Amino acid sequence: MPSEDDQFAVIVEEVKKRGKVVNSAIEDLLPLKEPEGLYRAARHLIDAGGKRLRPVMCLIASEAIGIEMEKALKAAVAVETVHNFTLIHDDIMDRDEMRRGVKTVHTLYGEPTAILAGDTLFAKAFSILASESSHRPENVVKACRMLADVCVEICEGQYIDMSFEDRPIEDVSEEEYLEMVRKKTAVLIACSCAIPAVLAGEEDYAKALWNFGELCGIGFQIHDDILDLVGGEKIGKDWGSDLVEGKKTLIMIKAARLGIEIPVFGKGKASREEIEAAVRILEESGAIAYAREKARKFVEMGKRELRKLPDGKARTLLEGIADYLISREY
Ligand code: IPE
Ligand code: IPE
Ligand code: MG
Ligand code: MG
Ligand code: MG
Repeated sequence: MPSEDDQFAVIVEEVKKRGKVVNSAIEDLLPLKEPEGLYRAARHLIDAGGKRLRPVMCLIASEAIGIEMEKALKAAVAVETVHNFTLIHDDIMDRDEMRRGVKTVHTLYGEPTAILAGDTLFAKAFSILASESSHRPENVVKACRMLADVCVEICEGQYIDMSFEDRPIEDVSEEEYLEMVRKKTAVLIACSCAIPAVLAGEEDYAKALWNFGELCGIGFQIHDDILDLVGGEKIGKDWGSDLVEGKKTLIMIKAARLGIEIPVFGKGKASREEIEAAVRILEESGAIAYAREKARKFVEMGKRELRKLPDGKARTLLEGIADYLISREY
């Protein structure tokens, strides 16, 4: 039996391999052009890297239902493009300065240009997806509609996330948190997985892949919230941002139920020592362990959906990626 580390090394390699295919498609589909300032801002985060998990899951989902990944390549670029649009706008909303190890778009280019860069990517994603010509036009329309509905849900989720900042922690339930992260994060991962099956007109597979992505996506966001606390420098984002912004994460909801108070929570800023102290308390209280266990349960439920897909290498890889989503260090 390979160790867990070896297993993830294989998965990371497979993701990187397909990530390169995605990157070269991005070069073709999202070229730098005039006005250069706008496109440089739009490409800033894309060029900084990122794990490319959504487009890679899209390509592997395609393989898993027996369709060459080339036929899902435009869809893969489209979901990564939507993702980058949401990141640019999210960093404005969350007042964050670092992402993917570089300065955020609004920090470098200013808010007005960052808003436009996000809007440009948002529109481009649909232009790219609509130009997919290796599938029946009515299925391409269905895929566009699914992606559009997902964007609406992301906006709803992001709005709810922000509105929670103004509510006392005791007021926000775990169910409300789970619905918020389903909308802001999980539906795009669900769409990334389901879109190759929608394009191919394989409705049953589309449903199973959607459910897989949605359940794993909830686990993914819970893990992201954990990394905000314990991830340190490796995450390439502002450490402790959720904590100082007063984000109602599952960890903080659980801590509040346990009667734990964190002095810097929602205070707008904190020193390194104060964040470290908060993390220690949250670790000791069991709130972080509670969130880890929840994330694992969602991923386990998600993986069960994959049984509805043909057995094979691609399906096994999707299972491995699901585990990686909640084991990753950044
Ligand atoms: C970050 O997503 C945004 C969330 C939904 C938590 P990723 O962790 O996939 O970010 P990149 O693309 O690898 O930078
Ligand atoms: C972001 O959630 C979800 C999006 C729609 C981008 P977060 O605000 O937790 O994402 P990060 O931590 O900034 O990447
Ligand atoms: Mg954020
Ligand atoms: Mg956010
Ligand atoms: Mg986060």
